[in-house]
Amino acid sequence: MITLCTTLDGVDWEALRLDLIADGFHNGRSTRQLRLSFENSTHVAMGFDGARCIANARMLSDGVGNAYVLDVWTHSAWRRRGIARRAMQLLLDAVPGQHVYLGTDDAAGFYAKLGFAPQMQGMSLIVGNYLDNATRRDEPPPG
Ligand SMILES: CC(C)(COP(=O)(O)OP(=O)(O)OC[C@H]1O[C@@H](n2cnc3c(N)ncnc32)[C@H](O)[C@@H]1OP(=O)(O)O)[C@@H](O)C(=O)NCCC(=O)NCCS
Repeated sequence: MITLCTTLDGVDWEALRLDLIADGFHNGRSTRQLRLSFENSTHVAMGFDGARCIANARMLSDGVGNAYVLDVWTHSAWRRRGIARRAMQLLLDAVPGQHVYLGTDDAAGFYAKLGFAPQMQGMSLIVGNYLDNATRRDEPPPG
């Protein structure tokens, strides 16, 4: 049975990272960085099939008027069953009255079905080298 949770209880972060890599949706975060990025988010939605985490989504919200959605993913073997829609709905239900932003390359149709509309051109900047910060430098050696 598929369950959706709004906590990080029970997530095996190393197994999740390996699944993300195998599924082609990995951006280079170490296992610790992956866990921290979810722990430091204001809202999360995690999908489980039994004990295995097979979907995730997270959101950063200022609690007032603006929020940003990231890391929306359903494992390829579980797609088109409404899992990401349920995950997104959990996130959106948590931020009434807020303007929710996201960036996507190839899932615009998915977000359109949730009511998202295309934005005017956005802008972004990477400060230094991506993922090169204290979360990586402070990493304990493997093992
Ligand atoms: C995009 C993604 C999260 C969708 O996950 P999913 O669990 O298969 O989505 P759902 O089953 O909840 O789909 C909800 C609706 O969107 C549609 N949909 C799903 N993926 C779609 C896509 N890539 N393009 C257009 N429509 C899509 C579904 O058909 C469904 O429509 P319906 O309600 O009319 O039946 C998943 O394909 C994925 O992980 N892709 C790789 C990562 C990615 O691109 N993430 C988004 C950018 S950050």
